[in-house]
Amino acid sequence: MDGKALVDSVKKDIIQPGIQLLIDTQYFTEMRQGKLSIKRLQGWAIQHYLHNKAILKSFALGMVKNAQDQTMFDYFTYQLNEEQSHPDLAKRFGLALGLKEEDFADATQIFECQIHSARTVYNTLTGIPPQNRASAMTSESMVCRYSEEFLNAGRKHYGLSDHDLIFFTTHMVADIEHTAQSADLIARMVKTPREERLVRESAKYMVRIKLGKFDGIYREYS
Ligand SMILES: [Fe+2]
Repeated sequence: MDGKALVDSVKKDIIQPGIQLLIDTQYFTEMRQGKLSIKRLQGWAIQHYLHNKAILKSFALGMVKNAQDQTMFDYFTYQLNEEQSHPDLAKRFGLALGLKEEDFADATQIFECQIHSARTVYNTLTGIPPQNRASAMTSESMVCRYSEEFLNAGRKHYGLSDHDLIFFTTHMVADIEHTAQSADLIARMVKTPREERLVRESAKYMVRIKLGKFDGIYREYS
């Protein structure tokens, strides 16, 4: 299968159905109705903050590991720069919901969120670039879509301002661009059936990780 067709198929057969499953979870169903507890919203802020901190380290690792490869080095440098402020944007959302600085400093990752961070580090260290990017493309497509849910519900049901919700407006726009970059890289770099399989596998794993993440947050912050 040629690269472009592969990317289209991953989007249509894996990512889009994954997004639908995510949006239909208890977490987002209750959020749309304004019934999701503040604690569960705060749970997302804490867990995403910790995850975002972890992926910055993963990007730094990717820069060092790929120092000889200008394209990949530039890619990880770009990602590090792009994401640098994102832990604080997730924190801002949590602070607006009543959390304190110490809630973030004391927190640890729940199981499902650590799996997400671990997968990102694993991909950076041992993954081939298209596998790594398939993971990012899936993750960011899903963040892009669920940000819309947070933004709408935050305004409508939880009395939050645009300033409080900036994480979500940022991700509704930025991740469209990142997704396009990842799609382009995958399309250019996948050459063998095994690489194609790794790309599909990576996208499928990320869908499962995301679904698990929101189920985990829902359960742990009940
Ligand atoms: Fe981000």
